[in-house]
Amino acid sequence: MDKLQVVVEKNKCIGCSLCVKTCPAHNLKIQEGKAQVILEDCLFCGQCEAVCPRKAVTVSGYDHAPQEKNKEERLNPGQVLNTIRFRRTVRQFQNKPVPTEVVKQILEAGWMTHTAENKRDVSFIVLDQEKERIEKLAVNLFRKIKPLADLINPLARNNVIDDHFFFFKAPLVILVLAEDKTNGLLAAQNMEFVAEANGLGVLFSGFFTMAANLSPKIKKALQIPKGKKVAMTLVMGYPSVRYLRSVPRKEMNVQWK
Ligand SMILES: Cc1cc2nc3c(=O)[nH]c(=O)nc-3n(C[C@H](O)[C@H](O)[C@H](O)COP(=O)(O)O)c2cc1C
Repeated sequence: MDKLQVVVEKNKCIGCSLCVKTCPAHNLKIQEGKAQVILEDCLFCGQCEAVCPRKAVTVSGYDHAPQEKNKEERLNPGQVLNTIRFRRTVRQFQNKPVPTEVVKQILEAGWMTHTAENKRDVSFIVLDQEKERIEKLAVNLFRKIKPLADLINPLARNNVIDDHFFFFKAPLVILVLAEDKTNGLLAAQNMEFVAEANGLGVLFSGFFTMAANLSPKIKKALQIPKGKKVAMTLVMGYPSVRYLRSVPRKEMNVQWK
């Protein structure tokens, strides 16, 4: 990727100031009726480019150009809520591979997700040929630390750590890495939505995530770059279980003040 730079094409700019009002870093001003970059001290979030009615402002240096939004698309709120209501963690999978184009869509959902300060610190590892070897490393680790985990976690206490303890024979495992865990988790949630929209079931594996972050051996095997952590591990595949209803929940805890 080249050096990032906000560029205003003065001949196209109509001085509408939409970019100035939108820039979260207050890095644009109107001078002599045209937008002007103040300091190059910005997040390079591209909002100035996304809002400009004349394509006068661009952020150069990125690998991908923006896409035009040709129509207003709005999801049905009831359907969105039902997606959340009826989604269930899946731990039983069909022995059926996930097509590459679906995997790419899931990855794009993660990559498109917003990040704090537009840090864009999220990256992915798709476990393919290495899946079983890596799972074995985590299984060995957990067998060692199980007695301690049993004391604090009921899920651990009642589980036998078999060879498929982490990935449940799922065909697809994607690790979401990030410097800032929140960014990684946001990406992971959007990835789950796209996975579900493609008919997949998903498990958020906190256990594998913990193992990967704890064990230097697993970190090395995964070649996790310095400064990054596994924010979440998504275990995915076509479900071999069908949930017929939502689950009971406590009353919502909300304060209106
Ligand atoms: C952050 C997070 C980590 C989780 N880690 C695991 C895990 O390591 N193993 C597992 O079997 N389930 C894991 N789960 C799934 C929860 O146990 C699950 O949400 C719970 O069983 C309720 O089921 P539901 O998701 O269908 O509502 C995790 C869920 C979340 C949100």
